Amino acid sequence: MLKPLLARLHAPVYRRRLSVLTELILPHLRDGDTILDVGCGAGTLGAALHSQAHARGMDVRVEGLERFPRGGEPIPVTPYDGKSFPFANQSFDLVIVADVLHHESQPEALLRECIRVSKRRVAIKDHQLWGPLAKMRVSLIDWAANAPYGVECLYRYNTPLQWESALRDLRLTPVALHRSINLYPVGFNFLFGRRLQYLAICRVPSSLEENAGAL
Ligand SMILES: C[S@@+](CC[C@H](N)C(=O)[O-])C[C@H]1O[C@@H](n2cnc3c(N)ncnc32)[C@H](O)[C@@H]1O
Repeated sequence: MLKPLLARLHAPVYRRRLSVLTELILPHLRDGDTILDVGCGAGTLGAALHSQAHARGMDVRVEGLERFPRGGEPIPVTPYDGKSFPFANQSFDLVIVADVLHHESQPEALLRECIRVSKRRVAIKDHQLWGPLAKMRVSLIDWAANAPYGVECLYRYNTPLQWESALRDLRLTPVALHRSINLYPVGFNFLFGRRLQYLAICRVPSSLEENAGAL
């Protein structure tokens, strides 16, 4: 009984999250791009990006990759074992990993795979511990958002400094860094949005742009 109730309460919050994230990621897309949504869950973020990109005249292709596919996703989804992505190096222009890394016991390995298969950008959306009772607030929203879908929570989140050093270690260069996002409806956002939310859109080390700069 608790799970359907949580799912119903979560729906409007999730809708706003989708539209905010889509608006922040869209400017980084180009016509003809291929996009991989890693840990796509229900596939709604990838689908929203696809439809908004098309509405703006960009013909992009979006697909998902999931460890535990749910079925019925609005984008094509490839299942895999959660370790090596079944794609060649630089297969996609943009790789999105949204609220997945904190569910993964080896987040660095997962991020390395995201970088490997990306030609140009990796978009990392996750949480960060910043502000009073941050761990408690993030844990609560993480549990409430995932319990209805049976997604395991590890309750481990990065601080802003840990994000900085993770990007540096992997030679990811942020081209857009959002360290406070009004991700949720007012009120809810005050408690669970803002500085608990993190989005970095990064240039990957092997990107063509970087190689051009090195010449
Ligand atoms: C909180 S949901 C996020 C769903 C979606 N990215 C979104 O933003 O709406 C986290 C998802 O990551 C998936 N996941 C966890 N570890 C994964 C891994 N190593 N590779 C791919 N997916 C993973 C889970 O199965 C779950 O569906």
